[in-house]
Amino acid sequence: MINAKLLQLVVNASNDGICVAEQEGDDNILIYVNKAFETLTGYKTDDILYQDCRFLQKDDRDQPGLDAIRKAVKEGVPCRQVIRNYRKDGSPFWNELSITPVFNEADQLTYYIGIQKDVTEQVDAQQKVEELQAEISRLKAQLEAAKD
Ligand SMILES: Cc1cc2nc3c(=O)[nH]c(=O)nc-3n(C[C@H](O)[C@H](O)[C@H](O)COP(=O)(O)O)c2cc1C
Repeated sequence: MINAKLLQLVVNASNDGICVAEQEGDDNILIYVNKAFETLTGYKTDDILYQDCRFLQKDDRDQPGLDAIRKAVKEGVPCRQVIRNYRKDGSPFWNELSITPVFNEADQLTYYIGIQKDVTEQVDAQQKVEELQAEISRLKAQLEAAKD
């Protein structure tokens, strides 16, 4: 069995953000974030401890992914969604967020683990592909129309 110190070393070495939250009323408050979480978001542990992670959304709260996250958290089931988040300096990034409930030996929901992966490059590339596909369709339609 891996010891606690080694586990902490490993989690802190992760390239993706990792955080642990515990339920408090309607909120899930952060009790741990790793180094990559601090690097990705620009927030230091002391700035954000005991806060719900929704501060990463700033005012951008009307996102379909958030409905799915809210539902999964309420039901205590895992989820994975890509949502827009904002760093401390206000710059946006796409966060592929995976949230998993953690149950104790008495099968009680005690914590959630969250993994934050910056997928900004992939989402931007996908959006570019969709724009180019739309442009190709438009040009094809123009060519067809010119044939007639
Ligand atoms: C462990 C955990 C990690 C989370 N990480 C993030 C995050 O990185 N970014 C984010 O915008 N929301 C994150 N959330 C989701 C928010 O805490 C919250 O559940 C979401 O905004 C939906 O609820 P609300 O409508 O009450 O804000 C996380 C939630 C949990 C439980």
